[in-house]
Amino acid sequence: NIVMNILLLGSGGREHAMAYKLSQSELCDQLYIAPGNGGTNECGVNVNLKVSDFAGIADFALSHNVKLLVVGPEAPLVGGIADYFASRADLCEIAVIGPSKDGAMLEGSKDYAKAFMLENKIPTARYRTFSAGELDEAYLFLDSLQSPYVLKADGLAAGKGVLILDDVDDAKRELRAMLLDAKFGDASAKVVIEEYLSGIEMSAFVLTDGHSYVMLPEAKDYKRIGEGDTGLNTGGMGSVSPVCFADDVFMEKVRTRIVKPTIQGLRHRKIKYCGFIFIGLMAVKNAVDGSLDPYVIEYNVRMGDPESESVFPRIKSDLVSLLCHAAEGTLDRGSLIIDSRTAACVMMVASGYPESYRKGDVISMANARQGGLIFHAGTALSKEGNLVTAGGRVMCVTALDNSLPEALNKAYQMVDKISWDGKYQRRDIGQDLLRMQLDK
Ligand code: AMP
Ligand code: GLY
Repeated sequence: NIVMNILLLGSGGREHAMAYKLSQSELCDQLYIAPGNGGTNECGVNVNLKVSDFAGIADFALSHNVKLLVVGPEAPLVGGIADYFASRADLCEIAVIGPSKDGAMLEGSKDYAKAFMLENKIPTARYRTFSAGELDEAYLFLDSLQSPYVLKADGLAAGKGVLILDDVDDAKRELRAMLLDAKFGDASAKVVIEEYLSGIEMSAFVLTDGHSYVMLPEAKDYKRIGEGDTGLNTGGMGSVSPVCFADDVFMEKVRTRIVKPTIQGLRHRKIKYCGFIFIGLMAVKNAVDGSLDPYVIEYNVRMGDPESESVFPRIKSDLVSLLCHAAEGTLDRGSLIIDSRTAACVMMVASGYPESYRKGDVISMANARQGGLIFHAGTALSKEGNLVTAGGRVMCVTALDNSLPEALNKAYQMVDKISWDGKYQRRDIGQDLLRMQLDK
């Protein structure tokens, strides 16, 4: 393997965590992050390019001798950036980490993902998909299910396209709004209606070259704004890794029932997939033997955010080497060494988030760095050179320690050294898992 220049696309905490890990590699010469944020420039050079500007990204990569392009968010993948790079002869020496447009459909269309799972006998909730002309059949299907009712806009809806309703008449009203009144725009031209799964959620992560794969550490994220998992959904308020209930037996079920058939299914459909697969799982108690069984809630074709902020710090192996193996189709020869310690990540957000929120507040973080890692998300440098808030999720801290309570304790100590006007964070990250451990 040779030393190379790398371009990472994205601007969130996920990308800061990836940039941190990529920049540690001896194989990384110059790291560029486009567009990056107020923290990624500690790991490399921020480049003012939009992730949707494929031609601009290609020009930059050529003129800066970039050999590896790592795509953080889903939008450019669903938009076909991997296909764009594969289609231009002058870009053929640049390896892209991220699936083709076909592969990105696993995230870009819920209907596609469900059909894929059915075809490959991957455990998931029973479902049917309906379009505007099929409202009556959709109502009948809803009547055949039990409460609560799960409605999913087929397309990308910025994480807002899933509705869970207790009352069948509310479900029918919402379904009508999705199909006939474009509640989520084009994304809800088709709606997946599925059975409600009762259990506890977690996320599994895979890096694949399309044939071989490695399973990265699993994680659990905390999606709601309020403590005790209440209030509006957010991009994610914190994460922990590992997840106590995801023991070897459970993860072996994930591997054999989900990961292997997913990769076989991609090959069967002749889909080029070199990149990350993020599998959102529900662990459901088996009625017969009481063990936990994994069901797929959703696929994403990228890493999670803020799961990345607790997953990447636990990867001891050289990430650039692993990505090169993925690009060359030799992941079976890649090694993955995982830190046995627990990582806890706490996200700090701006006042008002996830609704309209304030920007431009000056961040103070004297001595906060001691004890862990700080990953920026929505931060920027002001004209005066101050670090200021520039997004809803502003920054997070990750701490590693021998147990979850110790990791959380360290993380919250760091959180308390960071401040800005209106800063908010949940105080209960990981508490549900601690209660589960006590109950055992
Ligand atoms: P998704 O965008 O598909 O991840 O769905 C958003 C959230 O809705 C998930 O994180 C789950 O909490 C919940 N959810 C989705 N599908 C189901 C289901 N079939 N049963 C129970 N909860 C679900
Ligand atoms: N944390 C969930 C996601 O990245 O989609």
